[in-house]
Amino acid sequence: MSEAVNGTRALVLGGVTGMLGQSLVTVLEKAGWDVVAQSRHDVDVTKHSALDEYIADHKPDVVYNAIAYTAVDLAEDETAAAYELNKQLPAALGRSSKKQGFKLIHYSTDFAFDGRKQKPYVETDETHPLCVYGKSKIDGEKALLATEAPGALILRTAWLFGPGRKNFVQTILNLARERDQLNVVHDQIGSPTYTPDLARYSVELVNAGGEGIYHLVNSGQASWCELAAEAVHLAGLSCAIRAIPSSEYPQKATRPPYSVLSTEAFVNKTGTTPRPWVQALREYVFKDLGEIA
Ligand SMILES: NC(=O)c1ccc[n+]([C@@H]2O[C@H](COP(=O)([O-])OP(=O)(O)OC[C@H]3O[C@@H](n4cnc5c(N)ncnc54)[C@H](OP(=O)(O)O)[C@@H]3O)[C@@H](O)[C@H]2O)c1
Repeated sequence: MSEAVNGTRALVLGGVTGMLGQSLVTVLEKAGWDVVAQSRHDVDVTKHSALDEYIADHKPDVVYNAIAYTAVDLAEDETAAAYELNKQLPAALGRSSKKQGFKLIHYSTDFAFDGRKQKPYVETDETHPLCVYGKSKIDGEKALLATEAPGALILRTAWLFGPGRKNFVQTILNLARERDQLNVVHDQIGSPTYTPDLARYSVELVNAGGEGIYHLVNSGQASWCELAAEAVHLAGLSCAIRAIPSSEYPQKATRPPYSVLSTEAFVNKTGTTPRPWVQALREYVFKDLGEIA
């Protein structure tokens, strides 16, 4: 049977600069955890024995890994760098977890899937990533699971926006202030997710004893165009958002046309239904970005 974590000390890898990492630090501190936030200046995470020692020095009960190689298009050219962080790192963390006894929480992606399905992906659906980033993340999941780290939890999430780091929503709002019209892709559908919500739900799932793979996103779905239009509308900007097909916006890495994730397993485990992304977006635009519509 899975068990909730007993402990007080959490280490957040990527907690100083990562978009999700910073939200995890905020949420954990608010929940009363003694939190250590790591940055690349504290330890070189590609040196696995140094990383193992760094973790041992802090004696965490739980380690959240919010470090990743997230430059999806660049990964097509920088395959080794993507694999170093997205595959080798979670495997090393799995080995340390097994040795030291901390619970490991790791994040993965909706780019696990090829988008041929027409209803939300569940955890048991077959993965078939279309790009190097997606492949490196799925190989990372497998490498972590292969270490048999007890209680390890992998959370597949998607389309993140939130405070602390540049993201799609912020980029759109900045552009919308300068231009009368923006062309945004309408044939990729996913699950927009607010990092403070993801952090909060992650901690809830850990408290409920979640382990293995779970999908964790805000409720609802949108195309990039719909997400952009909603953000621009909330911010009270007059920029027109024009829907275009992906073929009019070529990108190096192939993205799935549909990657909505089902959170049914999370809901069953915790009793919590993630709030709709539109509500979360409102909080981001009004509270974090301080926009007055
Ligand atoms: N963003 C999304 O839309 C999205 C979608 C699906 C899944 N995910 C997954 O969610 C998780 C969190 O993503 P995020 O968007 O919050 O990531 P992010 O904002 O890009 O942050 C990545 C973190 O990794 C650190 N990092 C990168 N390269 C490093 C290196 N060589 N050595 C040490 N640290 C390094 C960064 O530090 P620096 O600031 O110093 O570079 C930063 O703290 C990841 O597992 C990602 O794959 C994200």
